[in-house]
Amino acid sequence: MIDLDSNATTGLLPEVLDAMMPWLRDQHANPSGSYGAAKRARKAIDEARTQVAGLIDAQPEEIIFTSGGTESINTALHSLHALTDTALPAVTSAIEHSAVLRCLEALPREVRQLPVNGAGYLELDALRQTAPQAAFISLMAANNETGVIQPLSEAIEVARQAGIPIHSDGVQAIGKIPFSIRDHPLDLLSLSAHKFHGPKGAGALYLRSTLSFEPLLRGGGQEAGRRSGTENIAAIVGMGAAAQAARRELSGNLSARLAAMRDHFEEQVMNALEGVHRNGDMHHRLPNTTHLSFDGCEAAGLLILLDEAGLQCSAGSACMTGKQKPSHVQIAMGISETRARSSLRFGFSKLNCMEQVTPAAQAVIKAVNKLRAIQGSSTGPVSVYGG
Ligand SMILES: Cc1ncc(COP(=O)(O)O)c(C=O)c1O
Repeated sequence: MIDLDSNATTGLLPEVLDAMMPWLRDQHANPSGSYGAAKRARKAIDEARTQVAGLIDAQPEEIIFTSGGTESINTALHSLHALTDTALPAVTSAIEHSAVLRCLEALPREVRQLPVNGAGYLELDALRQTAPQAAFISLMAANNETGVIQPLSEAIEVARQAGIPIHSDGVQAIGKIPFSIRDHPLDLLSLSAHKFHGPKGAGALYLRSTLSFEPLLRGGGQEAGRRSGTENIAAIVGMGAAAQAARRELSGNLSARLAAMRDHFEEQVMNALEGVHRNGDMHHRLPNTTHLSFDGCEAAGLLILLDEAGLQCSAGSACMTGKQKPSHVQIAMGISETRARSSLRFGFSKLNCMEQVTPAAQAVIKAVNKLRAIQGSSTGPVSVYGG
């Protein structure tokens, strides 16, 4: 099996599992306790906080542990909503993850979803026009489907000039590209451990120390009153270990290694097949991601053939798989419904190796040729269900 679905999730690194095991198997103390075992648990959480802070050059006290990217995002947006004028709109992009879009939709205030260009990159002029009359901005650091890295520095500058706070959904970017909060002085940033080889159900919210904050989860006052609930120590420790590993590898050649595998894969597929379109801005994209449309093929059919061939990838985003609706990201980019339904996302991770690239590309080439052969003379997308 070759896993090219790492934008959906990634496997645990052995060192992450090793760090977590004692907290699953041997230690069960509640870190709020006053005895020795509780103090050791508290110390482990503090170490993980320092490790996660280190990945983005933040201060440890600016990190709040959560149950994942979705909770971090909901917490950030809830706080921004609670502390800003509800008569003013929230501003976001049309290509955000559903964790941002559905959360904003549920708030009793207007939401402006700004357009992106055909390459899936935010229209900055729209942001510049909207921000002066807005309450806050939420803009993703990189898109989960296309991998397109958004103009965060420019958006931060727009927010600063408008005097409004800005949150970023950093779930896809953090751990894949070097990212420093010093270079990107955001107010809030959401992270998720399972996107960088940490455990699922572990996340963090960066909160600038000078920013006011309104918690989403209230109760026992854990996380300095910012996120109540008994800590999931194993998950937090695992996230810390994954952050430490990501930092180490990003200061080495991780981004270049991911890009080399991705580029070699793209080259083989595009050289062997006609009618393949690369979606998303080539100059601003994550090094691990490629998003391709295959003329005349339905993604759902390709996924079945690729699964049989032992290759894992996604149609659009993982959340859209199995749904017939083309993804909102591709529609926002002006991609036709037919082309959107014929697209696949491939995501490499450090657990892949160069030796997997040719077999993966061959599997894709074979699957596309097979579907197109079934198609015969018809011109629409072909489904393996339809025969
Ligand atoms: C861009 C983006 N934001 C948020 C999330 C949600 O993160 P989690 O799965 O940790 O809740 C995802 C997960 O796919 C994502 O890709």
